[in-house]
Amino acid sequence: MTIPAEPFRIKMVEPIRLIPREEREIALKKAGYNPFMLKSEDVYIDLLTDSGTGAMSDRQWAAMMLGDEAYAGSRSFYRLKSAVEEIFGYEYVIPTHQGRGAEQVLFPHLIQKGQYVLGNMHFDTTMAHIEMNGGIPVNLVVEEAFDTSLDIPFKGNFDIARLQSFIEEHGRENIAFILVTITCNSAGGQPVSLKNIQDVREIADHYHLPLLLDAARFAENAYFIKTREPEYKDTSIKEIVRKVFSLADAFTMSAKKDAIVNMGGMIGIRNDRSLFQSASSSCVPYEGFITYGGLSGRDIEALAAGLYDGIQFEYLESRIGQVQYLGERLRDKGIPIQWPVGGHAVFVDAKKFLPHIPAEQFPAQALCNELYLEAGIRAVEVGSLLLGRDPQTGKQKTADAEFTRLTIPRRVYTNRHMDVVVEALASIWERRDQIRGVEFVYEPEVLRHFLCQLKPIDN
Ligand code: F0G
Repeated sequence: MTIPAEPFRIKMVEPIRLIPREEREIALKKAGYNPFMLKSEDVYIDLLTDSGTGAMSDRQWAAMMLGDEAYAGSRSFYRLKSAVEEIFGYEYVIPTHQGRGAEQVLFPHLIQKGQYVLGNMHFDTTMAHIEMNGGIPVNLVVEEAFDTSLDIPFKGNFDIARLQSFIEEHGRENIAFILVTITCNSAGGQPVSLKNIQDVREIADHYHLPLLLDAARFAENAYFIKTREPEYKDTSIKEIVRKVFSLADAFTMSAKKDAIVNMGGMIGIRNDRSLFQSASSSCVPYEGFITYGGLSGRDIEALAAGLYDGIQFEYLESRIGQVQYLGERLRDKGIPIQWPVGGHAVFVDAKKFLPHIPAEQFPAQALCNELYLEAGIRAVEVGSLLLGRDPQTGKQKTADAEFTRLTIPRRVYTNRHMDVVVEALASIWERRDQIRGVEFVYEPEVLRHFLCQLKPIDN
């Protein structure tokens, strides 16, 4: 595939620096072999996340100057509301400080204790918010999602047969709602087809269940529908987005991804006034008044402008093209990755990269650490370390896949940076059998991957 050049030029730059190898060794040791604990100054190319790390456009920065900082009823809020009506076709919007804020405000009104929440694959904070409300998260993504070499276009799809049989087996009254995460982050930024969302809608209708979207990467998902689902090749991104959202009743969104802001999120509700009223009453104590939800007026302006930036086809083509560029070059070097490449990141298959390191020694984390030592690049583990222990037995769970996620911030790095990542991983690939697993020095009880301290295991 030829990747079009970026549809922008660069107006402002931020210096970055590769510190010497000896300093990287000290920094990583100090960080407890956990890249989350590194100082960003000590990182050369930061691929930890695509969340809140994008570069805003001149239009977004200009919009910030128009921020209306009124406590209630600001102009900025109404600008967001009209963008949400125009792009998604939803009547109600509640801004929140980020995606998890939206989950915290909305979920208590939808989940009763002991009910299941059925998802293709829930993101970790989403899972936490379901559990904190007494719900039980269930992942029903297609099995092919974890066969990283299988070339199928929509590895984020719901397994429709399993969805239906789960509802039949457990009873409709024991299900809170169905949540479609677009794109499916945990399976590799993999898209969900429009056909699949339509099938999920049919099931939701049949059993009278609410259907929600976790819409953090809605625009990237729409791009994949346009380019991989033949029926929609002539449909615009905007029309696809509208169609997808018309199939859901509500959404939560981290705007830090496809709306390209450094902070922000929202809840959208299609037309259920009473749900909007209940969520509004929770928003006030948690996030603030319903027209600002934890954001300043200028943040809301940038968000509203970013929603339009994020759905431009030329932008999406070059953005996803860059992720593709990295993935293809890694594959050319023989490095095992989740294929086809998804939207926001290349997921290196650490199970295949480091087959001598068992899951309980966290191969994907060992590879993150090695990548930092090699070239100052920060990646993130999405595997057994993130998954954690079984709350009942305390036993380490084994993830379906051990991924080292190379997450690409939007409009931030050039393809030359991507080449540096390829060179670094290719050099590690040559000596992969010498890499050792890691073990805990300190293991926090909840969301341990953020704060844990590790050390390499002695041979
Ligand atoms: N849903 C999905 C699919 C996400 O990927 C994230 C965040 C959230 C919800 C929560 O949003 O961070 O704004 O509170 N994902 C980031 C990541 C952190 O690195 O994948 P948030």
